[in-house]
Amino acid sequence: MTDTKKPLRSQAWFGGDDKDSFIHRSWMKNQGHPNDAFDGRPVIGICNTWSELTPCNGHFRDLAEMVRRGVLEAGGFPVEFPAMSLGETNLRPTAMLFRNLASMDVEESIRANPIDGVVLLVGCDKTTPALLMGAASVDLPTIVLSGGPMLNGNYRGQAIGSGTDVWKFSEDVRAGRMSLHDFKQAESAMSRSSGHCMTMGTASTMACMVEALGVALPGNAAIPAVDARRKLQAQLTGRRIVGMVHEDLTLSKILTRAAFENAIMVNGAVGGSTNAVVHLIAIAGRIGVDLTLADWDRLGRDIPCLVNLMPSGKYLMEDFYYAGGLPVVLQELIAKLHGDVLTVTGHTMADNIAGAENFNEDVIHPLPAPFKQNGGIAVLTGNLAPRGAIVKPSAADPALMQHRGRAVVFTSIEHYKARIDDPDLDIDASCIMVLQNCGPVGYPGMAEVGNMGLPKKLLEQGVRDMVRISDARMSGTAYGTVVLHVAPEAALGGPLALVRDGDMIELDVAGRRLHLDVADAELARRREAWRAPAPAMRGGYQSMYIRHVLQADQGVDLDFLVGCRGSAVPRESH
Ligand code: FES
Repeated sequence: MTDTKKPLRSQAWFGGDDKDSFIHRSWMKNQGHPNDAFDGRPVIGICNTWSELTPCNGHFRDLAEMVRRGVLEAGGFPVEFPAMSLGETNLRPTAMLFRNLASMDVEESIRANPIDGVVLLVGCDKTTPALLMGAASVDLPTIVLSGGPMLNGNYRGQAIGSGTDVWKFSEDVRAGRMSLHDFKQAESAMSRSSGHCMTMGTASTMACMVEALGVALPGNAAIPAVDARRKLQAQLTGRRIVGMVHEDLTLSKILTRAAFENAIMVNGAVGGSTNAVVHLIAIAGRIGVDLTLADWDRLGRDIPCLVNLMPSGKYLMEDFYYAGGLPVVLQELIAKLHGDVLTVTGHTMADNIAGAENFNEDVIHPLPAPFKQNGGIAVLTGNLAPRGAIVKPSAADPALMQHRGRAVVFTSIEHYKARIDDPDLDIDASCIMVLQNCGPVGYPGMAEVGNMGLPKKLLEQGVRDMVRISDARMSGTAYGTVVLHVAPEAALGGPLALVRDGDMIELDVAGRRLHLDVADAELARRREAWRAPAPAMRGGYQSMYIRHVLQADQGVDLDFLVGCRGSAVPRESH
């Protein structure tokens, strides 16, 4: 690799002889740095989302030390800094409400500081898109390190998966198949090591996405958090970012349209989370790539699901790692991918994966004998979703892919909770459950409530899946015939707001159609009578979010955050 000899950005802070340079160096020296720390070596920011309130990222202080070791070995000057951490399990009303806020923190922290290159430490769901969105709006050399999944859950000798088995156990308790005592016993059996969810939920999906995009070292996605090779990955990541600064290998050279197209195809092959749709569109928007729902449908349409992991299959991320991890998937797909894209290694994706070996073809199926035929995300449109909605066929019941049913409508999540187990609720297995006002503005933050649990009385009858439609998202660990991300959302007066109990709805996944079978004149009458719900909160960040948030088809970013604003800061602080 060639050294560009481009002046380092950090030297604008540390390289002078004036008052301001004195200030920049002197105060840093209170941490014990010698003079030669400021001699022109690359300053590497280690952006850490460690927090005890984000348990999936609770081991990141150790990981940051390994990155620091790598940076020092390669001749860089590591500086660790915190970013707002987003813990999926604790944050209310939903971590997604704060993804864009964290991205602002990251963008401004990188740009405003004397940093030449940055390592993003990510794990729990939203931390990956938030940090990459922020970094993309600055466009310095950047590399991502995922924290790694937890070890497989193990309950009474059976493998259990984060999230996926929570939804299952919860329904088993409601259906009387599992005792509350056993339910509570499973808590510590599920989360038994450091790391993020070990199903192919959103965190594992986004770890696959950054590897597929080429912004993480090969192997990043699957190494368990507590495997020594995760620490090694951290050290190698620290070494590599120093080289990337010397090569001026900025994010925009890696995050090209071809890279995003690769990621969409890989999402299909791993049976990835529906949340990747909004996250990739938002990241692309920050770096200037116009990614659309149509791209998701077109590129995912012929991609079979190769990876047999929960929630679509039966294995977990630890098994995925032992089978060879994402490089094997990339190699299976290479004829369909853009193998010539540049990655953080300085080499192409095709070069990176040469020699990848599949050690378990039941975990990672070969392309000629896929795990499931339909891996991609299907994008639906119609009079119920003029700007689109999505469904994940690999996690749904094939028998419901074409379905006409009577709507049972819930106007809010509270309305759903109050009604769902009412014995008098007029609902049967052929009905379509509709949830309104849970989109970006309506919730606010587009919470993961779209996979509504089924009515208790139907669970007791043995019903396991029904068509559900909403403007919400669902956890990447969830499953079912769940139509999500309906746009425009109900709280903005989208057609979803006009659905009433008893309306007939047609879902046709093969035809990519979602139709509300109500006459136009009646819909016009309902629209006339519709009134927007009062915002959940006034003032503060949430009011800014509600005013500026984009709809699901545009990635749910804030309108004024879209785009790359670069790294230049010409003015001094004193
Ligand atoms: Fe953090 Fe699932 S809750 S990754």
